[in-house]
Amino acid sequence: MRIDILTLFPDMFTGVFAHSIIHRAVERGLLELHIHNIRDYSTDRHHRVDDYPFGGGAGMVMMIEPIAACIEQLKGERHYDAVLFMTPDGKTFNQQKANRLSLHKNMMVLCGHYKGVDERVRELFIDEEISIGDYVLSGGEIAAMIIVDAVARIIPGVLNDETSALTDSFQDGLLSPPVYTRPADYQGHKVPDILLSGHAKKIEEWKTEQQLARTQARRPDLLA
Ligand code: ADE
Repeated sequence: MRIDILTLFPDMFTGVFAHSIIHRAVERGLLELHIHNIRDYSTDRHHRVDDYPFGGGAGMVMMIEPIAACIEQLKGERHYDAVLFMTPDGKTFNQQKANRLSLHKNMMVLCGHYKGVDERVRELFIDEEISIGDYVLSGGEIAAMIIVDAVARIIPGVLNDETSALTDSFQDGLLSPPVYTRPADYQGHKVPDILLSGHAKKIEEWKTEQQLARTQARRPDLLA
């Protein structure tokens, strides 16, 4: 899978993408990440990428030309299955959306900043507008990192234990059961006996019970 990210702050991505699962996905050749600085596509003498909003109002608006130039150049090089725009007024991201996006071959992600992007960018170039939650970040970059992380870890071959993405919270519409490791007794706080019993079938039943109980207690909306 190839993901192209269009941003005014390319340096924000370097640390995050150089570590852990995303790094491993790239190392294994399962994920290709390309970061594009929108400013490089400005033909303006001062490399401007934003301007005052027509009709007045607070904040600056990202201009269409540099964004359009970047998107059109990339689209001239290969087919893209989707062009995403990170924005708080988009559809809320969830595991189902991550699963669906992970099936794409090539995907572009546009990160917004300032007061937003010129509406014509959305009309002409964007297939899907995605929010990571009902709060406003200073830009779409951190939201884009979240999307890339959630998608990268479910690309087949990225996680070592192939079943581990399948047992994540939300993958089956339920929260995950509690997990434990050594010591079996920490200052009198014991691991449930069942997990030490060796009865594989009973352990699976216990895990499912725990999942249902947790989901009922913490996220009843998932059961509705
Ligand atoms: N940009 C600013 N806030 C955002 C949010 N909540 N989700 C996605 N992109 C954003």
